[in-house]
Amino acid sequence: MQKRIIIFDTTLRDGEQSPGCSMNLEEKCRMAAVLEALGVDVIEAGFPVASHGDFEAVHAVAQIVKNATVCGLARAKPADIEAAAKAIAPAPRRRIHTFIATSPLHMKHKLHMEPWQVLEAITASVTLARSFTDDVEWSAEDAVRTEPDFLCRAVEAAIRAGAQTINIPDTVGYALPTEYGSIFAMLLARVPGADSVTFSTHCHNDLGLAVANSLAGVANGARQVECTINGIGERAGNAALEEVVMAIRTRNDLLPFATGVDTTRITGASRTLSAITGFSVQPNKAIVGANAFAHESGIHQDGVLKHAQTYEIMTPESVGLARSDIVLGKHSGRHAFRARLGALGYTLDEVAVGAAFARFKALADRKKEVFEEDIIALVDDEIAASGEALQLAEMEVRAGTEGPQVCTLSMRVEGQRREARAEGNGPVDAIFKAIRQIVAHPGARLTLYQVHAVTGGTDAQAEVTVKLAEEGRTVVGQGADPDTLVASARAYLHALSKLLVKRGRANLNEA
Ligand code: KIV
Ligand code: ZN
Repeated sequence: MQKRIIIFDTTLRDGEQSPGCSMNLEEKCRMAAVLEALGVDVIEAGFPVASHGDFEAVHAVAQIVKNATVCGLARAKPADIEAAAKAIAPAPRRRIHTFIATSPLHMKHKLHMEPWQVLEAITASVTLARSFTDDVEWSAEDAVRTEPDFLCRAVEAAIRAGAQTINIPDTVGYALPTEYGSIFAMLLARVPGADSVTFSTHCHNDLGLAVANSLAGVANGARQVECTINGIGERAGNAALEEVVMAIRTRNDLLPFATGVDTTRITGASRTLSAITGFSVQPNKAIVGANAFAHESGIHQDGVLKHAQTYEIMTPESVGLARSDIVLGKHSGRHAFRARLGALGYTLDEVAVGAAFARFKALADRKKEVFEEDIIALVDDEIAASGEALQLAEMEVRAGTEGPQVCTLSMRVEGQRREARAEGNGPVDAIFKAIRQIVAHPGARLTLYQVHAVTGGTDAQAEVTVKLAEEGRTVVGQGADPDTLVASARAYLHALSKLLVKRGRANLNEA
């Protein structure tokens, strides 16, 4: 029997802390269902004390997840631990994850606490958490920069108080692999009771070493890895789940471990997250990037055709990517379309398939050939827009050499049709001004407007990304359409819908 590595997914907590990656309750539940189907062992659903919205989202996730353990984060404070306990209560399997910083820098400048006070807080917080659930995880924030002797004492205090999982975060992404691995070896050798708990890695990617460090932790005794889909997370992100899992699977000769992840669902999980957050992964991203299995050079193509393993260490199918040369067109039926969605890693209900199919048919009427990239952009756009408060209905733009450019736009605001006409300095400016007339948001700044052609050719779909910032909140929206201006309007409405959710829909009908 291979030893099992527990996959602790923190996409909905640490991942959500990336600027612009915040998710609302419905999006968190959708992502939690994807994570459960993927087979992760633990879903860290949020930080319940942080806000009412966070609490509600963790509580909602706890109601729908049946197999995975649902975890809530808490500082070493009674109010945090009580909120976490309440939020995760509906889940059949629940964990409280409590943490406190242990490095001299954090204890002195952030916590203003003496080391002995931190040790007391560890005992008190873990003891309180254990009064709500047997499954308690304790983390030493900034563990990598903690003095080894003090880290041993802190871990010992947590174990004595009843923590079953001990997490050693590289909070600032500072460690090198050999150094990080040796911390686990040291703790296992020195701390009384260390052999009775599960040690966990939690690595940030500031030096691009999060996955390498996590694997070094595993090689030295860690049996849980904390990670996120697409590696999203604070600053440079967390260890990417798909990279950790595929490294263990592909290099099982050197990493003789098993995970519970159904790797064929990796691509689908990555795409769902990108569609929800509006954050695409870069094309050369390992495992889930658009080029991860593409062979461009003649020598490589020739080699792969002769024997796939010449240049492929994993098959695209193993991560849920089934490449096909069959181009879909306007004569393709719903059945073939649904099958292609499945092959691309999407799991959509019939209503969503129907909506995406209608858009596919409209696209196929306008475009000679519909490629996989087109379908991905279209379905991501559909997933992003579904359930949003603001929906584009119709739009007409007058553009050309003679300004001003004019946009007449009609949209639905929570189901109610509203119209506006605006002039602008260019067509995109006119569109955004028309939207602003309908839903006022004077404090929001447009910090990114980006257009990318999904495929080659002048009939390619445009994929537009829009970023809005308002009072420290950042939201990202994406839209796709063969008409760049329609894609721009969709992206803006997607971002604005998210912004409205973030500010509690206070000004929704202000005009
Ligand atoms: O990076 C970190 O230290 C954390 C802890 C809260 C586990 O995210
Ligand atoms: Zn973290």
